[in-house]
Amino acid sequence: MQLQDKVVLITGSSTGIGKETAIALAKAGCRVVITYHNTKKEGEAVLRECSKYTPALLLHLDVTYEKSIQEGVAKIREKFGQIDVLINNSGLFMYKRLEKQTAAEIRAQINVNLIGAIHMTQACLSQLVLRPEVVIVNVASALSKEPIANATTYCASKYGLRGFTQALALELPQNVRVYCVNPGLTATKMTGFQGIGAGQVADVIVASVQERLGKKSGEDVDVKDFVPK
Ligand SMILES: NC(=O)c1ccc[n+]([C@@H]2O[C@H](COP(=O)([O-])OP(=O)(O)OC[C@H]3O[C@@H](n4cnc5c(N)ncnc54)[C@H](OP(=O)(O)O)[C@@H]3O)[C@@H](O)[C@H]2O)c1
Repeated sequence: MQLQDKVVLITGSSTGIGKETAIALAKAGCRVVITYHNTKKEGEAVLRECSKYTPALLLHLDVTYEKSIQEGVAKIREKFGQIDVLINNSGLFMYKRLEKQTAAEIRAQINVNLIGAIHMTQACLSQLVLRPEVVIVNVASALSKEPIANATTYCASKYGLRGFTQALALELPQNVRVYCVNPGLTATKMTGFQGIGAGQVADVIVASVQERLGKKSGEDVDVKDFVPK
């Protein structure tokens, strides 16, 4: 996909991987929609940065509330009239043994990481299928393929997101392609800033949107395969 002037919605893009992806796509000429949940000031800073390169829009979005999703999609339609790329990036991670996780923590991880991405995709589809060429990227995790202890609910949500990606690819029309990007440990607030740079993951997400990595719709893009060792 050529990036110039494409309208790209990146959920959870006030911080971390989403922030770096929004800035990289803005530099490449995309019109970007940045969303924040709690971190409004950080979202405003990303908006300022992206606006140096391209028209950009900042929205409050809670992917666990259908009303918030519907209002967000309506505002994008009003401002840009189209969506070409959806990047389901919002995520929550809790590193705890299962017996220590509260019911609310379990629900929150499944609701943001899996159900939120499904609802976002569903809400955008009617816009997406109208475009000649569309890419959806679901940001899952290396833990969607190789589980670890103390991350049971997170692994379940990300295995689910990977399954959703694969099944979705089978039913989407040919103009809409979907990829599951799986980062390993990445230095963001989610991990206490341990791991590889978020910009390196963003570069792989951008290459996935451009469809430069030789993947078929529905396939995994494992970040470790595309960053220098
Ligand atoms: N960091 C890693 O090692 C790693 C590894 C593999 C996969 N991932 C995945 O990469 C993605 C980005 O994570 P990150 O590492 O960049 O961490 P991050 O900086 O904490 O980003 C997560 C984003 O999700 C947003 N979010 C949380 N709850 C939300 C909700 N209810 N509605 C909408 N947005 C919500 C957050 O918004 P607020 O900050 O405004 O609340 C934040 O912008 C996640 O899906 C994560 O699971 C990360």
